[in-house]
Amino acid sequence: ARDGGPRRKQVLLAAPRGYCAGVDRAVETVEKALEHYGAPVYVRKEIVHNKHVVEVLSRRGAVFVDETDQVPEGARVVFSAHGVSPAVREAAAARSLQTLDATCPLVTKVHREAVRFARDGYSILLVGHEGHEEVEGTAGEAPDHVTLVDGPESVDAIEVPDPSRVVWLSQTTLSVDETMETVRRLREKFPQLADPPSDDICYATQNRQVAVKKVAARADLVIVVGSANSSNSVRLVEVALQHGATSSYRVDSAAELRDEWFDGVDVVGVTSGASVPEVLVDDVLASLADRGYGEPEEVRTATEDLVFSLPRELRTNLGLTP
Ligand code: F3S
Repeated sequence: ARDGGPRRKQVLLAAPRGYCAGVDRAVETVEKALEHYGAPVYVRKEIVHNKHVVEVLSRRGAVFVDETDQVPEGARVVFSAHGVSPAVREAAAARSLQTLDATCPLVTKVHREAVRFARDGYSILLVGHEGHEEVEGTAGEAPDHVTLVDGPESVDAIEVPDPSRVVWLSQTTLSVDETMETVRRLREKFPQLADPPSDDICYATQNRQVAVKKVAARADLVIVVGSANSSNSVRLVEVALQHGATSSYRVDSAAELRDEWFDGVDVVGVTSGASVPEVLVDDVLASLADRGYGEPEEVRTATEDLVFSLPRELRTNLGLTP
């Protein structure tokens, strides 16, 4: 197009994108709880980090709170997909709350690793973003053993009591490439650093990054649909910029698209974070069509068929087979 030929305005749609199995389960947990028990259903923190999802569920009677002490004694509360520390479980039990735990099973897996390595006397270097709910939950499993490592630059300052007994674990929604760089630096400093038994960065995070890389290599601009507090969505913008996109922006919805982003842009890539309902992507695609871009071409790098069953407490109450 840039050599003066006719311009073909194209959309590349990354796949996989959008909902992962853990988000799907967490959102369905709140929906089913509303249907079965009726409103209000309390939810500690945002069930998943997406503005639209939280707004829709709020309208249907979910009440989002920051901490369990804001939930009336004895009421029902859902724990979000990001997981909670044992201290939060204890606080909920002390108020006799009826809990529905929507923690993603892949987050629970990391919690178990933290418990086990702490019990075996390891120092745990938890690679993750300071202040993120998932990191608070995981670190809370073994507070005396965990040190947060927030990116490659923070490696220099890390100290451990016994460098021969040290392991790294991670948040599930990090940039794979940046995490590998952090671990490379950690290993330089602690040559006996042990690896997690399996990947902590989850399949959905990895798959969405692989797909956006492929799209970014061919696109001028990459639009990532997702909320500002969604770690995996924000990472998709970074990955797109590192892999060939000239520009990349995150939007919560089509309403945030700005005309100037499209000046001289022939190829637009589109993807969405793991907490993003497809309807928001559809709106973005409709807006691109209005701007003269053609039918989207799907760029698929993997297929996903993982499904997690609903939390056991809910399955039992709904009369579903265990
Ligand atoms: Fe779970 Fe990964 Fe989704 S940890 S909630 S499957 S982004």
